[in-house]
Amino acid sequence: MPSLASQLKKTLHMGENKAEASAKLPIPTPVSAATQEPKNPSGSAAFFDAVENRRSYYGIKAESPLTDEQLVALVGRAVKHAPNSFNMQQSRAVVLTGKAHAELWEKVLETNLKGLGGDKDQEEQARGRVNGAFKTGYGTVAFFEDMDVVKAWGEKMPFVAEAFVQWSDVATGILQYIVWTALEKEGLGASLQHYAQYSQETQDAITELCKVPAAWRCTALLPFGVPIGPPGNPAHPKDFQPLEERVKLISA
Ligand SMILES: Cc1cc2nc3c(=O)[nH]c(=O)nc-3n(C[C@H](O)[C@H](O)[C@H](O)COP(=O)(O)O)c2cc1C
Repeated sequence: MPSLASQLKKTLHMGENKAEASAKLPIPTPVSAATQEPKNPSGSAAFFDAVENRRSYYGIKAESPLTDEQLVALVGRAVKHAPNSFNMQQSRAVVLTGKAHAELWEKVLETNLKGLGGDKDQEEQARGRVNGAFKTGYGTVAFFEDMDVVKAWGEKMPFVAEAFVQWSDVATGILQYIVWTALEKEGLGASLQHYAQYSQETQDAITELCKVPAAWRCTALLPFGVPIGPPGNPAHPKDFQPLEERVKLISA
């Protein structure tokens, strides 16, 4: 199927000389506001452009087109508008840049290495990943869920106390996705890392470094920076399973 860009180019005769192209443009018929067609053939086109362009970047450098203030504003906007169960607003985020970003990854590596049982190959790989794909970036967004809030809602509604924990996981995922996708739109590459889940020591080290309460559970780290290469892992090109096996319509 031709891309949206090529369809638009075809419709607007782009790529030809301007006079010729404008001569071929249809003369617009005046329409009332009520019957006006939307500008995009599909109202969700811009949204899906962003969805499709978000990828995992493992080659990033310590540069950012956004200032730290702009980065915090972007993350804040996502935190404010991301949906969460019962609007309990338990999601949190810390943006680390400069030395704080570097120290975070040093600490993550240090605690991660302790859990590898002295396996030299795995240690080498861990060092390569942390120092080659994450620490090299401009900054990291650390995502947290305030478990005091989640617990309080569970106590208020004990029949769904367990579900609140699951919904908290869902909510943090949605938030992570919004930030990841928005950063991509700003020209930043990022990847989603889950070292806090590997060991309690790493979890505690992140909480301490971010100077947040112990009840804030780190759910993911998103190191980001200007990409220095294509997304993904060249050894494992991204593939897609047939959609008809994954999406069904029931309409009767
Ligand atoms: C819940 C979840 C956990 C993930 N954990 C990791 C991770 O720990 N490390 C990593 O490099 N990527 C992680 N990813 C990223 C996926 O591997 C990646 O999104 C997927 O392979 C598709 O590639 P893409 O991001 O380039 O589209 C995670 C993604 C999700 C949604």
